[in-house]
Amino acid sequence: MARIERTIVLVGLMGVGKSAVGRRLAKQLDLPFVDADAEIEAAAGSSISDFFEQHGEAAFRDGERKVIARLLDGKPHVLATGGGAFMGPETRLLIKLRGISIWLNADLDTLVERVSRRNDRPLLKDGNARQILSDLMAVRNPIYAESDIVVESVNLPLGEMTVRVTEALCNWIAACPERARRPRV
Ligand code: S3P
Repeated sequence: MARIERTIVLVGLMGVGKSAVGRRLAKQLDLPFVDADAEIEAAAGSSISDFFEQHGEAAFRDGERKVIARLLDGKPHVLATGGGAFMGPETRLLIKLRGISIWLNADLDTLVERVSRRNDRPLLKDGNARQILSDLMAVRNPIYAESDIVVESVNLPLGEMTVRVTEALCNWIAACPERARRPRV
């Protein structure tokens, strides 16, 4: 495969496995892995749930936009974004210009099961996770679908899922090796 000179950006809803798959993908591609949410927490000096509580969602989105812009300005890596990051038009444009986006898509049952393993997601704090995720899918899926590559995150072991993502990425680049080249902007 052509050397990857662009950051690989994983997008998709909460619980789909962006960080878990991203970590493994980075290992396979021999690229660093960065978790955007962890970078935001480090920059803010607080957890995302505390940040939401103290400053609200708009301030979080602002910080998220800045952190991702900074990361996309750096060396190529594998970047797991928070589920709402790709909704920001500025972030989406930057990802299109500088990165290669991969949407990990999953069905509602899979997402509901996976988010139940953690209870620190501010958007799921007050209300029924299935309803909230279903509402988010309706709004967000058409936008996630603008990604360069789409991979169905069926209930597979992480290793298997990573193989699928790697294959999809290799095929996408093989069709046009220019796609892996360093962005001009
Ligand atoms: C969010 C997803 C979270 C985190 C924040 C908001 C969202 O990240 O960024 O709670 O808007 O979907 P994960 O997708 O990694 O859970």
